Amino acid sequence: MRKTTLITGGAGYIGSHTSLALIDAGHNVLVLDNLCNSCRECIARLEYLAHTRIDFINGDICDSSLLADIFSRYDIDTVVHFASLKSVEESTLKPLDYYTNNVGGTLNLCRAMAHHGVFKLVFSSSATVYGDPVQTPILEDFGTGKPANPYGRTKLMIEELLTDLCNADPRWSIALLRYFNPIGAHESGLIGEDPHGRPNNLLPCLTQVAIGRLPELTVYGCDYPTVDGTCVRDYIHVVDLANGHLKALEVLQHHNGIHYWNLGTGIGYSVLQIIHSFEDITGITVPYRFAPRRLGDIAKCWADPSKAGRELGWRAQRGLEQMIIDTWRWQSCNPLGYQSSFEVPALIEVK
Ligand code: NAD
Ligand code: WQD
Repeated sequence: MRKTTLITGGAGYIGSHTSLALIDAGHNVLVLDNLCNSCRECIARLEYLAHTRIDFINGDICDSSLLADIFSRYDIDTVVHFASLKSVEESTLKPLDYYTNNVGGTLNLCRAMAHHGVFKLVFSSSATVYGDPVQTPILEDFGTGKPANPYGRTKLMIEELLTDLCNADPRWSIALLRYFNPIGAHESGLIGEDPHGRPNNLLPCLTQVAIGRLPELTVYGCDYPTVDGTCVRDYIHVVDLANGHLKALEVLQHHNGIHYWNLGTGIGYSVLQIIHSFEDITGITVPYRFAPRRLGDIAKCWADPSKAGRELGWRAQRGLEQMIIDTWRWQSCNPLGYQSSFEVPALIEVK
């Protein structure tokens, strides 16, 4: 049996791009996803892009008997763990669902891994674990802060429980990858971010306005102490992020213990800078209006990614223009996300 990398949440936005990067790099992957925020069509498109069939299980990380069955049937040596609920707003309304799914699901997964002698794990963490940072750019050794919502607290709890695991048993090697703000899509335009229901994040909201699915963009806050009064974030191309996972997997082969790395570009852009860049690049005007600050938002958040540079040999390659071109190609070729018909798009130049 071939060694297999289990990818939980591999049909989701970041998971699908990472699955493709892993397959392209020669990994044998098994995707486990309950499709609560994704769909089977994504796997079909991945198979098309990867020119291979993908082992896919429609199932839940909270289902221990399913995990036992999966770990017995496949020769899994590594797990890349994306599966999670991720809506900040929903987490404030349904905290039990978030703690059960994200924290409970991770506990379940780690139990199954340990039981089957699998000790290598890459975990999707988030810059949210820093809370409101004391200064920017954010370095890993600032330590974690106080996340502003239940979603963020699930990420911090999982980081802590994974750290405890490494301290208790030296066989574990775990990477906590702290993503900043992933945007963009695969350059084919065939896979991208397709949130179920109303989007929360800036780029899906912006592109849904541009495509006509939403009437206007709401900009939350214009009185922050930033360059133009709107919040500043570190947007990172999802393909660069996916490649960071490959680098982390390489390092875990030879270094046990807990590791944490910021995955960001090191550059911050304000909300208005994003809107205006989008308009310049696509030629489309985005109607927007200012609204009061959104609860829990912080003024500034961008990474110092130099630790990932030194220790992983990774840095983001794609700039904001590429991120916007690829986001827009995905959205305009797939106005209804994965419900749009499967057409192989030409590699369009947006301008
Ligand atoms: P996503 O919702 O697109 O992907 C998550 C996938 O996990 C979905 O396909 C969903 O169906 C699946 N899933 C959820 N619960 C599951 C369960 N119990 N069992 C099996 N599958 C389950 O989200 P994403 O943006 O791709 O995020 C991936 C990971 O990265 C998440 O852990 C998220 O918290 C983290 N993250 C995301 C961002 C971001 O802005 N997108 C930023 C930082 C961290
Ligand atoms: C970016 C900026 C908004 C929507 C969130 C999570 C974080 C991480 C990434 C998972 C903010 C503004 C947004 C809109 C707007 N996720 N905005 N109008 O809040 O930095 O991070 O996603 O781990 O944990 O908190 O990202 O894309 O929601 O917002 O003005 O319609 O865009 O106020 O300043 P955020 P975002």
